[in-house]
Amino acid sequence: MLIIGNGGREHALAWKLAQSPELERLYVAPGNAGTVIWNVPISVQDIAGLVEFAVKEKIDLTVVGPEDPLSLGIVDAFQEAGLRIFGPTQAAAQLEGSKSFAKMIMEGAKIPTAEWQVFEDPVRAKKYIETIGAPCVLKADGLAAGKGVIVAMDLETALQAVDEIMDGNFGSAGKKLLIEEFLEGQEVSLLCFSDGVTALPMVPVQDHKRALEGDLGLNTGGMGTYSPPPIWTTELEAIVMRNLVSPTLKIMQERGTPFVGVLFLGLMITKQGPKLLEYNVRFGDPETQVVMKRLKSDLLPVLWACTEKNLSEVQLEWKNEVAVCVVMAAEGYPLAYTKGVPIRLPLESGQDAVIFHAGTGIHEGQLLSTGGRVLGITAEGQTLQKAREKAYALVDEIDFPKSHFRRDIGVKGLGN
Ligand code: AMP
Ligand code: GLY
Repeated sequence: MLIIGNGGREHALAWKLAQSPELERLYVAPGNAGTVIWNVPISVQDIAGLVEFAVKEKIDLTVVGPEDPLSLGIVDAFQEAGLRIFGPTQAAAQLEGSKSFAKMIMEGAKIPTAEWQVFEDPVRAKKYIETIGAPCVLKADGLAAGKGVIVAMDLETALQAVDEIMDGNFGSAGKKLLIEEFLEGQEVSLLCFSDGVTALPMVPVQDHKRALEGDLGLNTGGMGTYSPPPIWTTELEAIVMRNLVSPTLKIMQERGTPFVGVLFLGLMITKQGPKLLEYNVRFGDPETQVVMKRLKSDLLPVLWACTEKNLSEVQLEWKNEVAVCVVMAAEGYPLAYTKGVPIRLPLESGQDAVIFHAGTGIHEGQLLSTGGRVLGITAEGQTLQKAREKAYALVDEIDFPKSHFRRDIGVKGLGN
């Protein structure tokens, strides 16, 4: 098997797949220090290089981590070369690659979501904001690594955000601007395996998108996760599967672009019920770290079934334990951050805990930080409280100078 990517998500996938009795050989391209025994130095953007490698090594199944290669059409390229790959085609990946496309699908499938308008002209965008007032949410249309969204609580911030997004900060992703109604509630990430027709939900996860404790500061790719959030119920899951997931698969099928891979719903649980904030077309990061920690079933046959289009024959088994992942990031993240900081890890991560690497590398035998999000300290316990204690005890054993992390991952779920 080949896993494409170099984040914490890919380390978690590799960790899980390596436990499969069906696995013969694993590669991760390009991977990080946590996946070093499986790494091959091919970048995620080098689609021709990845195809060539997969053909040469007779890879039976490839799994794509990040969104960029999916939007670039890596699945189409692999399939044209006769290779089996888990992920959506370029056409289906537009659900994440273009927010205006996603909104069009939601509208077509009558999926509950925030009211919205799309603009290409900043003057019109500002006029519209003056009519709807604040709070409102502004989004760059294209991919911006989870950072192209500004939640404006007052009018001034909203007007400034128009310029920030449209003035070239986000390149072509910011050519079109979406302005959305502000939704109130708790967020839940629901990832589903999909073979194009059948979807199987994974366990629900709550991410912590803001950089600072108390959900303050800038939006990031995610500072930590836990699963399950107590706000989630089986009733809610039934509603989401029936009213959001199934209609999405159906409309994608009808358009001739069936969705195979992980369909990841970013939900807001509002007083009026679950509403869809966004689709992602891949495993979440750091959602995958806690999902893999809780998955009892072998992952390999599930991915295989999605590509064989027989997911309806699969049943997933999950652990009852609660899992928590605390992201340790570099100083400055999500803005400009320091790299090359030496890190020392404890020899043992202890029972029920695992240190997933993200932005790490090895230079002359020394473990160094190489990215914004650096480690994902993941632990499980009988209760959320116990899982948190284990995760933070391990965080405190890690020597990573000036690292930046939140002490309140999972606090939202305590006491409910
Ligand atoms: P997105 O990339 O669209 O998920 O947006 C990133 C984050 O911005 C979300 O996880 C929410 O925290 C917030 N957000 C996005 N859209 C809305 C909305 N319509 N109302 C409130 N918050 C939002
Ligand atoms: N943690 C959110 C994401 O992967 O997009």
